[in-house]
Amino acid sequence: MCGIIAYTGERVALPLLITGLSKLEYRGYDSAGVYTPEDGLLRSTDGVQSLAALAPNAPSGTFGIAHTRWATHGAPAVRNAHPHAAQNNILHLVHNGIIENYQDLKDELSALGHTFASDTDSEVLAHYIATAYEAGLTTTEALASTLSKVRGTYGIALVFADDPGTLYAAALGSPIVIGIGEHEAWVASDATALIHETKRVVYLEDGEYAIVTPETYTIKTLGHIDKTRTPQTVTQNAEELSKHGYAHYMLKEMHEIPTVIADTTRGRLSEMRSTVKLGGLEEVRRELERMERLMVVGCGSAYYAGLYGKYLIGSLVGLPVDLELGSEARYRSIPASRSSVLLAVTQSGETADTLASVKAFKEHGGLTLGLVNVVGSTIARTVDAGVYTHAGPEIGVASTKAFVTQLVGFGLIALKLAELRGVTSTELLSFKDALLSLPTLATEVLARSERVEAVAQHYAKYAHMLYIGRSLSAPMAYEGALKLKEVSYIHAEGYPAGEMKHGPLAMIDDAFPTMAIAPRDSVYEKMISNIQEIKARKGPIIMVATDGDYRAEEMADHVIWIPKAHEALMPVLATMALQQFAYAVALAKGINPDRPRNLAKSVTVE
Ligand code: G6P
Repeated sequence: MCGIIAYTGERVALPLLITGLSKLEYRGYDSAGVYTPEDGLLRSTDGVQSLAALAPNAPSGTFGIAHTRWATHGAPAVRNAHPHAAQNNILHLVHNGIIENYQDLKDELSALGHTFASDTDSEVLAHYIATAYEAGLTTTEALASTLSKVRGTYGIALVFADDPGTLYAAALGSPIVIGIGEHEAWVASDATALIHETKRVVYLEDGEYAIVTPETYTIKTLGHIDKTRTPQTVTQNAEELSKHGYAHYMLKEMHEIPTVIADTTRGRLSEMRSTVKLGGLEEVRRELERMERLMVVGCGSAYYAGLYGKYLIGSLVGLPVDLELGSEARYRSIPASRSSVLLAVTQSGETADTLASVKAFKEHGGLTLGLVNVVGSTIARTVDAGVYTHAGPEIGVASTKAFVTQLVGFGLIALKLAELRGVTSTELLSFKDALLSLPTLATEVLARSERVEAVAQHYAKYAHMLYIGRSLSAPMAYEGALKLKEVSYIHAEGYPAGEMKHGPLAMIDDAFPTMAIAPRDSVYEKMISNIQEIKARKGPIIMVATDGDYRAEEMADHVIWIPKAHEALMPVLATMALQQFAYAVALAKGINPDRPRNLAKSVTVE
C-alpha cells in the first residue's frame, strides 16, 4: 500500500529518490521519507517534494532508500514515517505491508531494553534485524533469520551502515522489483517508480531476499539458496503499470478484494484464538459492554455497509442498531449519552456530512467510533476510538474493495461486541470461521467474472433496472443499484423485495429488468415468490443464485452464480458480482468507470 524506492550508483541519490517517490503518489501517501548516510534521515508529512528542502547541505549521498507511507500502524506523523533507524543507526529500513505478530516481537525486544521512536510495526522489524546483526550474524543471516519469524506481509529495502553502497531487499506478499542500470541499480515496490530510469527489471518472488550493488544483484531464498533470474524488459508505460495491467482502477481494485479482506482480518482474527483483537476499541471496552444502542452513520456506499452492519449486529449480538445518513443525522437532534454510541463508517474519513454528525454527537456527550479506511484522516482523528479497514488507497470513484472491507469490518465489530457482552452461540463461531475463509471464496467470485460480463452485455441497452433483496441481501440491492447508476448512468433502484407490492411492481414490464439477489438463505423461498410475481408481469430477471440452486435457471432469464457460503457472507459475494456487472455495463456503454461524470471520490462539502 505504501511505496518504496532505493538507489545505489554513481549519481547523487536524493533528487533521484524524490523523483521516484513522486511516481508512486498514485498509491496515496500521508508522509514520506528518505535516507542516505551523507544527507541523513529526512522525513515529512508535507509531501514528497518537501523532502529536498530538509537536506542540511547540498545532497551528496550516492545510495539510499525512500518511502511514501499509507499508514496502517500509527497515525501519519513524522515519527511514524519511514525510513526507520535501529540501534544507533546501524541500519535503516523501509517497509510495505503489515507485520501481524509485531506486538510479540516488540515485547521480546522491550524485555531486552529496546525503546521505540514510532508506533509502527516496521520499526520493530528494523530493531529485530539489527539485534540479530549485533549478536554476530552476518547482514543476510540477520535479515533471513528475522524474516523467518515474521507473520504477515512485507516488501522491504534496507541499508546497513557497515556496508555502504549495498541495498538489501526482501518480499512476501508485497512486491519488490530490482531495476538494473549502467553502473547503478534500483529497488522499488513498483516498476512505476523506476521505468523512467531503466526498463530492465527483476522481480523478487515471495520468500526471497536480494543483495543489490551498482554492478550486481544476488537473489536467495530465506534458506540462503541461490536463485538465478534474468532481467526482463518492461514494456508498459507508467499509467498502465500503476493499474498493474488492469484496464481501469475499478477493475484492479475489485481484483484486490481477496487480499484486502485478508488484510482487514489479519492479526485480528485467527483460527487458533477464540477472541477478536481490535486494539482500537480496547480503551472503550467498558462503554461497549454497557452500551444500550448503537447508531451508525455513513454516506453513499458506506451507508449501505452500515445497513448490513445493522442487520448483522442485530442478529448476531442482539443489540439494537439505528442507521442514519450523515447528511440527515447532522440536522436532527440526536439523543446522545454515554450509553449510546455512534459509529461513523467512511472510506476517506473526510466526508463532510459524516464528520458533522460525529461532531454533533460528540457535543452532546456521546461516545464516537469510526470504521475508517484512511488512517489519520479527519474522522479517524475526531472519533474517540475505532477500527481501521485495510483496503489501501482506493482510486476508482465507485467504491469496490473499500465497501467490501467495511462489510468485513462490521463482521469483526459484531464478533467483538458479542465477546464483550458475553453473547455466545454456535452461530457466532461458524460466522468467525466463515470470515476467515472469505478471501478464498472472493477469489472464486473473481474467477467467474467473464460469465457476469456476458450477462451484462444483455442489459446495457435498458434505461431502468430494479435491484431487490431481503434481509442481509437488501443492502446489497441498494449498493448494486448505486454501483450501476454511478458507472453506467442507467437509472437503477434498490428495493427490499418485500416492498415490491407496495409500489415498485407497478413499474414492471418487459422493458424493466430486475436483478434479484436470492442466495440459498433463510429468506430464499420469499425471494422466489417475488421473482415469480415479476415474471408474471413479463419483467426480465437476472438472479444472483447460489451454486447448485437448480430452480434458478428455470426461473431467471440469466443467472449469476456465487459460491455457497455462510448465510451472512453470501451477500458479500453477491456484492462483488454486482460490482463486476456494473463495471461490464459501463464498458459496454463506452463509459470510463474510473471517472463517472459529475462525481468526486471524496465529498468534502455538504
Ligand atoms: C462518495 C464516493 C462513494 C462513497 C461515499 C462516502 O460518494 O464516491 O464511493 O461511498 O462518497 O465516502 P466515504 O469516504 O465517507 O466512505
